[in-house]
Amino acid sequence: MLTLHEEILVPRSPEQCFRYIADFRSATQWDATATRADKLTEGPVGLGSQFELDCAVGPGTIQLVYEIEEYQPYHSLVFRARGRYFDIKDTIVFSARDEGTHIDYTAEFEYRSGLEKIARRFEAPMRAMGARSLAGLKAALTDQHPAPSVSACSRRADQLILPGVAMFTRWGYARGRKQWRPVSRFMDDQHVVITGASSGLGLATSIALAEAGAKLTLVIRNPEGVEDLKNQLSTHTGRSDIRVELADLSLMTDVNALADRFLSRGEPIDVLVNNAGALFNQRTETQEGLERSFALLLLSPWQLTRRLKPLLTHHALPARIINVISGGMYTQRLSCQHLVMPEDNYDGPQAYARAKRGLTVLTELWAKAWREENIVVNAMHPGWADTPGVKSALPAFRRLTHKILRNEAQGADTIIWLARATEADQVSGKLFLDREIRSPYLLKKTIEPPSERQQLEPFLAQMLATVADRRIGH
Ligand SMILES: NC(=O)c1ccc[n+]([C@@H]2O[C@H](COP(=O)([O-])OP(=O)(O)OC[C@H]3O[C@@H](n4cnc5c(N)ncnc54)[C@H](OP(=O)(O)O)[C@@H]3O)[C@@H](O)[C@H]2O)c1
Repeated sequence: MLTLHEEILVPRSPEQCFRYIADFRSATQWDATATRADKLTEGPVGLGSQFELDCAVGPGTIQLVYEIEEYQPYHSLVFRARGRYFDIKDTIVFSARDEGTHIDYTAEFEYRSGLEKIARRFEAPMRAMGARSLAGLKAALTDQHPAPSVSACSRRADQLILPGVAMFTRWGYARGRKQWRPVSRFMDDQHVVITGASSGLGLATSIALAEAGAKLTLVIRNPEGVEDLKNQLSTHTGRSDIRVELADLSLMTDVNALADRFLSRGEPIDVLVNNAGALFNQRTETQEGLERSFALLLLSPWQLTRRLKPLLTHHALPARIINVISGGMYTQRLSCQHLVMPEDNYDGPQAYARAKRGLTVLTELWAKAWREENIVVNAMHPGWADTPGVKSALPAFRRLTHKILRNEAQGADTIIWLARATEADQVSGKLFLDREIRSPYLLKKTIEPPSERQQLEPFLAQMLATVADRRIGH
């Protein structure tokens, strides 16, 4: 038997330390060997929850299934894993101190008979690994990370275009995550509004933020999806306090009615995620007479965000707006005149990309305009993720690329990080991929002249007015 024992003191409450470690998926953020961790059991983390971990040992990887054997909030936790070569028992005791929490961590390795002798030779590296892991845990719970920045490698990739686009795949995610810092902040009492939460990235974001303790209002359009969405959230997280609002966000009447409901409740919003979206291969118009891609992907988030702005101000911490755009926008230059594509010249991916370019520019304009009001606005693009939206709108693309597409959680990761990470509110007006600031332009010819930027919001206001005029004329 080998026993490793470490103690650390961290500036966090026992409750937060306990919750962070009990969800053992966090091990990939601080353990010196864990490279992957999944939760195997459904429902909230508690007694009996199981986690499957890949741990890098020497040149290989071993897989371990950990189970929570003792769960005493917020005092102690015992995890046990049974492996081929050894069993492990991790006992973690939390004690409140004036400075925060004292964590006493003991890991006991029980080797299969005949292996003790070999194991003794590895005792020194094992002890070093234990010390490194607890140093990692201390850094994770201390949660003082530098502001997000641009790495030299990403800057080069953006200049070379092809490597930049290769980063949209699951390889980009795998590369990106090697640099990531732990995220241990909980979002209790933070009100998060997410549009397009019924599937894909919106659903993955909702689950992750519910697990982080956020108070969620999810916006979906299909009344029949409400129960299913609530059931999914409850199955995954045990949360039954999720509010759902209905709105077809391609209709400005619905956008305004939704905003009215939020404003009349008056509950401040800490994070707004403008995620709802779809790519329309055929040109259609909404019943309000607007081309659908433009209405849903640009006019709608513009109007919703402006209307909800009074609820996003007056926070002690900056409120966060996260606009979900698309790498497709790299192909397009903002031109207000061409945002609404006409019948005879419609191209679905182009209409989509132009609207997303518009939302990227809005991100920068709002960030600048609202800096003094303590609102940070950032955009992210998810890379290419295998979601119901991609399946239905881009079947040929999906057939070709399905092996390299990200899964939904990987696509949603940067939304979740922008909403949750302590340091993510330290920059505004930026575009992110895999938690890193990226250039909003890959091609010089897509840089818009300043006059187009200045015209964008007046143009959107004009388009909104046409809807109101049509209603009056009706
Ligand atoms: N997946 C990718 O590779 C990828 C890449 C770049 C950008 N994106 C962006 O990521 C966001 C999420 O897309 P996704 O891939 O997760 O697709 P998804 O699975 O189809 O999710 C899209 C969500 O938007 C909702 N939505 C669509 N039209 C709506 C409307 N008129 N009113 C209200 N809600 C509406 C959908 O609701 P319903 O369930 O009712 O349709 C769904 O909840 C989108 O903005 C998309 O443009 C995705």
